[in-house]
Amino acid sequence: KKILLINGPNLNLLGTREKDIYGTETLEDIARKANAEALKHNMDLTFIQTNHEGEIIDKIHEAKGNIDVIIINPGAYTHYSIAIRDAIKAVEIPTIEIHLSNIYNREEFRKESVIAPVCVGQISGFGSNSYILAINAAALI
Ligand code: DQA
Repeated sequence: KKILLINGPNLNLLGTREKDIYGTETLEDIARKANAEALKHNMDLTFIQTNHEGEIIDKIHEAKGNIDVIIINPGAYTHYSIAIRDAIKAVEIPTIEIHLSNIYNREEFRKESVIAPVCVGQISGFGSNSYILAINAAALI
């Protein structure tokens, strides 16, 4: 199985950014753990990060025909990017939404995900283990 894991805006700052909420691991640390987990399941993982909405959309489009499951942490785009939602819907690739933090126990504006309704499911609140759980979920779908 081929998995594309997309990290959205500001996730390149993990390890230094709001450590009380997002932890001390860097995105590179998480990528290493995610790769090891994917290997256990014999899956081929592509792990990317971008701060640009259009680039996320391009990557989702390019996944069509090449990728079996998309895992996405859309960062703040979670809460308002109808364009990313439409791209996921358009390519018809099973998609799993993930978050390090629990988006339901924070500010009101984080409680809505416009992405979740077009996803198979959402994993939120387990820190970097949200990534590990999502890779296991991807192996099952
Ligand atoms: C996040 C939650 C979002 O609300 C926030 O904007 C992020 C990170 C998370 O992984 O917990 O950038 O997606």
